[in-house]
Amino acid sequence: EGPFFADLFEAHDVREVIDVGAGSGKHAIMFARWGKRVVAADPDESMLAQARANLGEAEDDIAASGGDLKIVEAGFGHLALHDLGPVDAITCTGNALPHVAGHDGLAAALRDFHAVLRPGGVVVLHLLNHQRLLDNRVRSIPPVVRVAEDGTMTVFLRVIDYPEGGEYIDFDFLTLTRPPGGAWQTASRRSAHTALPIATLTTALQQAGFGDVRAYGSHDGTPLEIDADESVVVTAERL
Ligand SMILES: C[S@@+](CC[C@H](N)C(=O)[O-])C[C@H]1O[C@@H](n2cnc3c(N)ncnc32)[C@H](O)[C@@H]1O
Repeated sequence: EGPFFADLFEAHDVREVIDVGAGSGKHAIMFARWGKRVVAADPDESMLAQARANLGEAEDDIAASGGDLKIVEAGFGHLALHDLGPVDAITCTGNALPHVAGHDGLAAALRDFHAVLRPGGVVVLHLLNHQRLLDNRVRSIPPVVRVAEDGTMTVFLRVIDYPEGGEYIDFDFLTLTRPPGGAWQTASRRSAHTALPIATLTTALQQAGFGDVRAYGSHDGTPLEIDADESVVVTAERL
């Protein structure tokens, strides 16, 4: 992902960035290490706590690069309210954008992005390829498996439902954990994500005052293959 963002930031002369839905701050910290002035915004206190802890470890590197990172409790639609602009770029990575509240929530979030970006500024969105999910009624996503240093194995599964109406896609997140020699433990939670196929995103971006909308199939910059790519990376310029 790094080279993709680095090239884009150079092309748009980006010095100030808001990463919204920043989670544990992975991207925001990477940008700040490059010497950017960054705001990491997220509404979830537990994610903000993780971001603060990660920032603590990176603080010296960030200071040495001349960068800066502020962590702010704010979600979609509330960036301008927190006086966070004007900035040169907004990033929204790791499938955070579908947390907007329906298509009205998407429109409000993009109007807010527009309000805090300077003219010519860039927005970068990275999320699951909802068009592929919707077209094929994909019911599950391949598991992600992690083994911790102590041997504890964790398996993350996502099972998908398509409620009537089409505005939302329901994700059941199942987490299976097994300590070495122990029994499997399970946890699950359901999250309704706003359905954001590429056509919906493109139209909403244009209506919010963005142009030059481009869709990629990954951070290596290859054009989106709508039937094949698991994720989409969308960039657009604030008019
Ligand atoms: C899967 S995480 C992605 C985190 C990070 N961007 C990354 O790429 O690793 C999704 C994030 O969206 C955040 N989120 C949920 N609702 C949100 C909202 N209304 N506004 C902004 N962020 C939200 C969650 O708190 C979470 O940190």
